[in-house]
Amino acid sequence: MQAAPLPSESMPPPPAPVHIPVMLEQVLSFLQPCLGGDILDGTLGGGGHAAALLEASRGRGRLLGFDRDPRALPVARQRLAPFVGQHVIVQANFSQAAAVLRGLGWAGVDGILLDLGFSSLQVEDGRRGFSFLRPGPLDMRMDQSGGQSAADIVNSSSEEELRRILREYGEERAARAIARAIRQERAHGPIATTTMLVKIIERSVRRPARHQRPRTHAATQTFQALRIAVNQELQHLALFLREGYTLLRPGGRMVALAYHSLEDRLVKAAFRRWASACICPPQLQICACDWEPQVRVLTPKPLTPTSQEVMDNTRARSARLRVVERCEGGGG
Ligand SMILES: C[S@@+](CC[C@H](N)C(=O)[O-])C[C@H]1O[C@@H](n2cnc3c(N)ncnc32)[C@H](O)[C@@H]1O
Repeated sequence: MQAAPLPSESMPPPPAPVHIPVMLEQVLSFLQPCLGGDILDGTLGGGGHAAALLEASRGRGRLLGFDRDPRALPVARQRLAPFVGQHVIVQANFSQAAAVLRGLGWAGVDGILLDLGFSSLQVEDGRRGFSFLRPGPLDMRMDQSGGQSAADIVNSSSEEELRRILREYGEERAARAIARAIRQERAHGPIATTTMLVKIIERSVRRPARHQRPRTHAATQTFQALRIAVNQELQHLALFLREGYTLLRPGGRMVALAYHSLEDRLVKAAFRRWASACICPPQLQICACDWEPQVRVLTPKPLTPTSQEVMDNTRARSARLRVVERCEGGGG
């Protein structure tokens, strides 16, 4: 039987799939685009949330959209084309937001949206290597102009480093077995495709039935871990969360949508820190800071999608939405 050819750069791109914006109603109700302010969409993707925000602004608001993936930009541009003069689209990493905003002459914004993770445009394009269900090169870079691909990591990391990545970023219980199998397998030649990696994982993970996660493919956690490592997703998020609130004008709001516990934990901790009255470590016993709360947390518990939304859009399944509002006395 002849093997199906791998999708490659020389092949025409498949038609762009539609990415359904997650928890759109809640995003619109917190960011209040109808008030006509400036909004930063740090994760523009195909522009689903952005288009809805601009639509709801009825010609009065402005939107600055970032994506680190240059392939997302033309799709977003097309989607936002009807909103002439109301948006600026830039290839940028949201971890650099302060510098980019300064460079563009935007002195703060009234709303920020971070819809974290990857988009349907990325996962459904086999040439990008994000999906364990699609044959393709083991790439996974959101920005393919540089940096290590998943194949680089899989083929050059030590077994111990691979185990750490799978455990830390994938919370994969079989990290040890998968890392060992990868090390053994690559002795026969590089692991270059998604299909090769999936086969290795499937062979190495023989979970007893009681440990099977129903409805999850054996490669789910490994692919998540590699994607996070390749794109240094947690590092960029942590960088943004150091002082991201300073981009908000007084009364401005930030909405973060996280899709796994690692990123949600970072968001939750940062929002708490920004909202706290004192940031001295408890062991100091005497408060030595003049820190004032910078934000108010509007979602003491994260919001989750309705069961109807999850039925209509499985990508929404693990979404956790958190919101803060910049205190009136805050800078801007
Ligand atoms: C979940 S999608 C956003 C979908 C979008 N909200 C929509 O409704 O179409 C996430 C997007 O964020 C981008 N992204 C992820 N991390 C980023 C970062 N650190 N800086 C900029 N863009 C990032 C990804 O390339 C992807 O296109």
